[in-house]
Amino acid sequence: MELKTGNDSTVDSATLDNTTGDRTTGNNTSPNRVSSPPLQQLLGWIIDPVRYQVQGRQQYGDFFTANLSGLGPMVIISDPKMIQEIFSYDASKFDIGRGNTIIAPLLGMRNLLMLDGEAHRNKRKLLMPSFHGERLQTYCQQIEDIITNITQQWQPGKPFGMLTAMRQMSLEVIVQVVFGLREGDRYEQLKPLLRAWLHVLDSPLRASLIFFKFLQQDFGTWSPWGRIQERQRKLHELLQAEIDERRAVGDTGRSDILSLLMAARDENGQGMDDEELRTELLMLLLVGHETTAISMAWMFHQIYQNPAILDRLRQEIQSLGDKANPLAIAQLPYLTAVCQETLRMYPVAPLLFPRIPKEPITIAGQTFAAGTPLVSSIYLVHYREDLYPNPNEFRPERFLERQYSPSEYLPFGGGNRRCLGYALAQMEMKLALAHVVQRYEMLVTDTLPIKIHRRGFTLAPQTDVGMVVTSRRKAAPSVSAISARV
Ligand code: HEM
Repeated sequence: MELKTGNDSTVDSATLDNTTGDRTTGNNTSPNRVSSPPLQQLLGWIIDPVRYQVQGRQQYGDFFTANLSGLGPMVIISDPKMIQEIFSYDASKFDIGRGNTIIAPLLGMRNLLMLDGEAHRNKRKLLMPSFHGERLQTYCQQIEDIITNITQQWQPGKPFGMLTAMRQMSLEVIVQVVFGLREGDRYEQLKPLLRAWLHVLDSPLRASLIFFKFLQQDFGTWSPWGRIQERQRKLHELLQAEIDERRAVGDTGRSDILSLLMAARDENGQGMDDEELRTELLMLLLVGHETTAISMAWMFHQIYQNPAILDRLRQEIQSLGDKANPLAIAQLPYLTAVCQETLRMYPVAPLLFPRIPKEPITIAGQTFAAGTPLVSSIYLVHYREDLYPNPNEFRPERFLERQYSPSEYLPFGGGNRRCLGYALAQMEMKLALAHVVQRYEMLVTDTLPIKIHRRGFTLAPQTDVGMVVTSRRKAAPSVSAISARV
């Protein structure tokens, strides 16, 4: 289905009405079951996850049971009340890590995504402090420098792909802020290798390697799976060399996330072993890089087509005057609303992690059997007409006019699995937004509306989001220079 958005951008989706699911099926194991053959469903899901979900909701209502060949049945939910109930259940009622094993071939089993129960709680406790509070503020300067370096490459009159530019930016943020590498041989080797490793997820065809186990055959580096394995081996070698070097040098007061993780200890004084450290780094890259880059590319695509939004943003930033430090920028209401609306309209993750009940569970009067993955659809919730009138219109004001509950607006998920990097991602988006709108006049060069399509586990723009700088604006002081004065 082709739908027009307010600014003429088309997403491959449908406006959702407010129909409800049939809760009187009496079939506790798989209510509202999609009737088409499982292989056809799997292909539909891989090729066009948005269309698959939208059609499911139109046909069956607020929840329906998808049956994807090889992955089994899962219930896709778009009713905020049901999602709210799931979030408010005690986390111990669900397994979540085992629903994520699809990415085990890339990350192995010993990382936060795969864990459940106490192991998950403990690992989250170790990782959490690196991403929040004062720690976050210490990364702002680095992020601002990265933004400056990337945007300085933009030449007036020379078209470029905003998605590629934002990927460069978010990869630098992960490599510098998370891995703690800024220069040197290892830094130079790591970046192309990480890009090549992530390349496996960048088209529906390549992503099939993840979904179809029989394609995961290592016949050496000429076979697609063999190449991925080889890259993984090299990545682990490089990361191990970095860890060895840091262990040899000892604590040098570094503030990057790898150093914090190496120093982190649980209540029993236990730290992470080397294999865990390497895998957590790759996990953070996998979940944090593409997600942030895509969100930023959509954000610039939207605001540079909306002069009124751009003007209002600039006025708001200018109103800060001398007080434009990263914290003040992060708190600007309209700038925040622009980021929120971007994440609403373009939810990078179509679904939350599956919540798998350990025992039969009743939600909104419907009983679901133990072992049935319950999957909340961010996309379907964010396009509900009753919550977001004219959902295909990019309208940041809606976030100033109304407060949304955690189950009505959930770009970062919720409950005990809420995205660990949500504050870092939003800080990056906000600093990039403030930096770019103050300095550049730009045009969108993609004349055709851009569709949303699958890229690995994410929903991404189908093109590189073409843009061109038409002129530079009068230089604004950099946020870091200002923050140094406050
Ligand atoms: C705009 C950018 C991002 C979006 C939209 C996003 C979205 C999400 C979503 C939807 C989940 C699943 C939550 C659930 O099922 O309840 C998640 C989990 C996670 N995200 Fe993000 N994410 C983003 C950026 C990042 C960044 C930058 C990092 C770190 C570098 C990160 C780290 C994580 C981790 C570690 C988890 C797993 C948490 C757990 O299992 O306990 N994310 N993210």
